Amino acid sequence: MANKELIDGLNHALASEFQAVIQYLHYASMVKGLDRLTLAKFFEEEIADELKHARFLSDKIVALGGKPTVQPLPVESTADPRRMLELVLQAEEQAVKQYTGLAQLAEKAGMKGLQVALEDMVADETRHAEETRLLLS
Ligand SMILES: [Fe+2]
Ligand SMILES: [Fe+2]
Repeated sequence: MANKELIDGLNHALASEFQAVIQYLHYASMVKGLDRLTLAKFFEEEIADELKHARFLSDKIVALGGKPTVQPLPVESTADPRRMLELVLQAEEQAVKQYTGLAQLAEKAGMKGLQVALEDMVADETRHAEETRLLLS
């Protein structure tokens, strides 16, 4: 399959998006103390973006002739708000790298529409990472 590298990459990204949805939902529930006032809402608000990314990737994998994964990457559970933010930042930075690489693959394959969509996702994940970094600073 000509698009195998791309489909595999998109599937790995899909597993990461499922991980992000679970991670944000889990941390929104788990955060306690005064941090709950701010962080529960912050975590919850990220879920919509990650779900949108997952839906896009899932549709695209099917359109390219692949089969979308139903397996998330693992999520580390923690009750420590700072650790939650550190893990979120790690995941968001990883997502920026991942979508940057996938956008380059799409460009090489001459798939302009996919390239632009993936670059939009680089922008989304960069915004998520920046917000998280500010919360940690
Ligand atoms: Fe995402
Ligand atoms: Fe994100």
